[in-house]
Amino acid sequence: MKYVIGVDLGTSAVKLLLVNQKGKVLQTVSKEYPLIQEKAGYSEQNPEDWVAQTIAGLKELADCFSGDLSDIEGISFSGQMHGLILLDGNHEVIRPAILWNDTRTTAECQEITKRVGKEKLLQIPKNIALEGFTLPKILWVKKHEPENYAKAKLFLLPKDYLRFRLTGQLHIDYSDAASTLLLDINKLSWSKEICEALDIHPDLCPPLVPSHEMVGNIKKEIAEKTGLSEEMKVFAGGADNACGAIGAGVLEEGKTMVSIGTSGVVVSYEADGDKSFDGKVHYMNHAAPNAYYTMGVTLAAGYSLSWFKNTFAKEVGFDALLKQASKVPVGAKGLLFTPYLVGERTPYVDATIRSSFIGMDSSHELKHFTRAVMEGITFSLNESIEIFREHGKVIDKVIAIGGGAKSELWLQMQADIFNATVMKPNSEQGPGMGAAMLAAYGAGWFASLQECASVFLKDAETVEPIPENVEKYKELYQLYKSIYHSTKQVNKELMAYRNVD
Ligand code: XUL
Repeated sequence: MKYVIGVDLGTSAVKLLLVNQKGKVLQTVSKEYPLIQEKAGYSEQNPEDWVAQTIAGLKELADCFSGDLSDIEGISFSGQMHGLILLDGNHEVIRPAILWNDTRTTAECQEITKRVGKEKLLQIPKNIALEGFTLPKILWVKKHEPENYAKAKLFLLPKDYLRFRLTGQLHIDYSDAASTLLLDINKLSWSKEICEALDIHPDLCPPLVPSHEMVGNIKKEIAEKTGLSEEMKVFAGGADNACGAIGAGVLEEGKTMVSIGTSGVVVSYEADGDKSFDGKVHYMNHAAPNAYYTMGVTLAAGYSLSWFKNTFAKEVGFDALLKQASKVPVGAKGLLFTPYLVGERTPYVDATIRSSFIGMDSSHELKHFTRAVMEGITFSLNESIEIFREHGKVIDKVIAIGGGAKSELWLQMQADIFNATVMKPNSEQGPGMGAAMLAAYGAGWFASLQECASVFLKDAETVEPIPENVEKYKELYQLYKSIYHSTKQVNKELMAYRNVD
């Protein structure tokens, strides 16, 4: 039997999966690292933490493996998108990585829109300038840290830096390149026009490869540190949401996935790169060959729930918290929550909006707040589903992955709020499984990712919407939607107070 490893470089942890040729997950390892939040709106990480924790995870995986380590034939990666890592001429990291949920770049987004033009943005990278994307971060460094920018010779995204440290090879795959705002997503090349308009040297952009391409082997020193074979093949990998889509079987038109991790996303498969969503949702290259996907993003999905728990119920376990919330009726007894802890992307591009609890009553207890947080996150994801439906997509089934797929309560809530059948795959490990599938396909185990999916993926559970809940949620959703507009200006003015110690 042969094996592959899927590495998912997330925001809170790196997760590693060992998968055999039948798609069975034999082992999982997870290693955490911290987030650096110096100011409101800032979100950074130390790339060295990713490398150290991945090597420690690989060693643990190899140590526990009872078979022949040379049977682990390949490894591939899924990574948090958009993050900026700048390397100098010696390939040393110049400053901490600026992450996808960092929203310091509103001025740079405005500059990009002005200098490139919205029409060109919707034509070349097919996305509008959003704070989380890589290009505005490059411009921010250029403006605010000119000494760092002067040293920069190349940028990479998180999983590409990690892969570079394991292999010594510098690449980026198309799905992550699409998340920079510098890729011509139809021509599959860096856009000279955008580089020129913003005075960015095209040499900063790394070489492009497809996600399933073999880019090398692990370095001797990494093989020695981890125990893995030097012969193990390394495949490029993809953006976490593209890999999540592969791991959820979103490999043909009509398939939609909802992932609730740190962020929450609704991802829908697109066969072509020439539709128009007018920038309302992200439009990107899939990690599957010759395919695309569209995506709506809630910046703080699982993050809202973990923030809530860590701040107000640290001593209560997640399972207990969710069990209590499942006893509360639909609507959390008149309590609503908006998940705007770090600003928002879809449907409102707004870096200054922040969260609210609306309708707090002296009868409310911890369990009502927990339920309101979960409902608020799900309402926010429904706003992306609504955009897709308004653009003619039929969404009557969604595949749920991530933390939101681990809870019966949350699966039912998704079915009721989306008014759709929710399917949970046998592995809700989406992105790590997608990375393992890219390695399996790249290694030639299967003729296509679809063929790999037919062996690796099975639906484990199907949840149908409950009509009575659907009706209640329809009303509550309208109230939820009004909160953004009612709290927008107040939050804008509160911004001045957020960075005061
Ligand atoms: C997507 C996005 C997030 C990150 C999370 O655009 O910013 O979902 O990819 O890792």
